[in-house]
Amino acid sequence: MGYNVAIDGPAGAGKSTIAKLVAEKKGYIYVDTGAMYRGLAIHFLDRGIKAEETEKVIEACKDADVRICYEGGMQQVYLNGMNITGRLRDEAVGRMTSKCSVIPQVREKLLDLQRELARTNDVIMDGRDIGTCVLPCADVKIYLTASVETRARRRYDELKAKGEVCDFDEIAKDIKERDERDMNRATAPLKQAADAVLVDSSDMTIEEVVNTIAGLCR
Ligand code: DC
Repeated sequence: MGYNVAIDGPAGAGKSTIAKLVAEKKGYIYVDTGAMYRGLAIHFLDRGIKAEETEKVIEACKDADVRICYEGGMQQVYLNGMNITGRLRDEAVGRMTSKCSVIPQVREKLLDLQRELARTNDVIMDGRDIGTCVLPCADVKIYLTASVETRARRRYDELKAKGEVCDFDEIAKDIKERDERDMNRATAPLKQAADAVLVDSSDMTIEEVVNTIAGLCR
C-alpha cells in the first residue's frame, strides 16, 4: 500500500497548485482526479452527447478508456489512446464535467483507477470525495477551502492574466453553482471527512498552505 494523502475541497480552493507543490517537496505522485472526470466529459462532448442525456452518458462510459501517466513529472490524460491533456481546462469541458460527475456510473468508472494508483504509489490525490469515498483509509486527509469571494478573485486574475474577457460577478455565480452541485449530489457529495484537517486558504499565501499541509505528512 502506498502512503496516501487526500485533498478535497470546492472548485478554486487551490487544491491542484498546493498538491503539486507538496508532491514535489515530499516525492509523492500528484493525482488530479478532476482531470480524469474532465477526460470522460471530453469523450461525451466528442460524441455530441448533452449532460442531460443520462442514458447516453452511461452507455458511452462503456467505450471510454481513460488512462493517466506521467511525462517529465507532469500528469497526462489519455482518452482511448489519444493524449487530451491540452483540452482538459476548456470552459465547456469544465461545465460538462460538473454536470456529468453527479451520475453514479460515471463515478464508478473512475473509482478503480484512482484506488489502484493509490495502492501502488505514494500519492497526494485531489478531488471532491477522496477522503470520504475513494480513500477512506488515507494516511492524511485535508479539506482545503476558501471563501467564494477569494476563489472568484483568483479565477478572475488567472483569466485576466491570459488576456481573456471576464466578469467577476459571473465567475462568482458560476463558482456558487458548482459548489451547490458538488455538495448536494446524491452520490459522493463534497464534504469534509470527519477525520480531515480543515485548511482555509482565504488569508494564507501559497507557501503557508504548502508548509501547513507538508507538516502534516510523513
Ligand atoms: O477539480 P476540477 O475542477 O478539475 O473538477 C472538475 C469537476 O469534476 C468538478 O465539477 C467536480 C468533479 N469532480 C468530482 O466530482 N470528483 C472528483 N474526485 C474530482 C472532480
